[in-house]
Amino acid sequence: VLTLILVAVGGYLLGSIPFGLVLTRLAGLGDIRQIGSGNIGATNVLRTGNRPLALATLLLDGGKGAVAVLLAYWLFDAPILAVIAGGAAFLGHCFPVWLGFKGGKGVATFLGTMIAIAWPVGLACCATWALVAAVMRISSLSALVAAGLAPAYALFLADTDRALLALFCAVLIFIRHRPNIERLLAGTEPRIGGKKE
Ligand code: G3P
Repeated sequence: VLTLILVAVGGYLLGSIPFGLVLTRLAGLGDIRQIGSGNIGATNVLRTGNRPLALATLLLDGGKGAVAVLLAYWLFDAPILAVIAGGAAFLGHCFPVWLGFKGGKGVATFLGTMIAIAWPVGLACCATWALVAAVMRISSLSALVAAGLAPAYALFLADTDRALLALFCAVLIFIRHRPNIERLLAGTEPRIGGKKE
C-alpha cells in the first residue's frame, strides 16, 4: 500500500508541473492563463506566436507523463504501478495543487503517458491527432478524436488495464474540453495558426 501511495503521489507531483505556464513566464510573455483560451497547454502557448516554446511545452508536458510511467517501471517493475503512475501524472496535469487545481486539458500528458505505457497505442493516438489536425487544423477536435479512439486502440493493441487507463483519461479529456466542444458545435473553435479568436 505504501508503494502504491508513493507511486500515486510521485506521479501526481510530476504531472502537476505546469510547464506551459512556467515557460511562458520565463520567456517574459506574461501569464498564459490570460492569453487565448486561457489553457496552460502547448496549443495555447502557440497562440503567443512562440513556436519553439509551444514545442517545448508539448514535449515537457508529454515527457512528464512518460517519465512518471518509466520511473514506476524502473523502480518497481510492476506494470499496474506504471499504469497508476501514468494516471496520477495525468491527474496532476489537469488538477495541479499549485494552481488551485485549475490545470490543463491533459492532451500532451496523455500522449506521453500512452507512449510510455504501450507505445503502439501512444503512436496510434499521436497519428490520429496528427491526421485530424492535418485535415481540420483544429487542436481540440484532434485531441477529442484521438482520446475517443484511445480505449479501443488499447483494447486491441495492449490489454484491459491500459484500456481502462485510456478510458479514464479520455473521459477526463472530454470533460476538460467542454468549452472547446461548445465552440466546435457553434463553429467558432479557432484553427491552428489561424487568426486570434
Ligand atoms: O491540448 C488542449 C487542446 O486540445 C485545446 O487547447 O487552448 O485550444 O483550448 P485550447
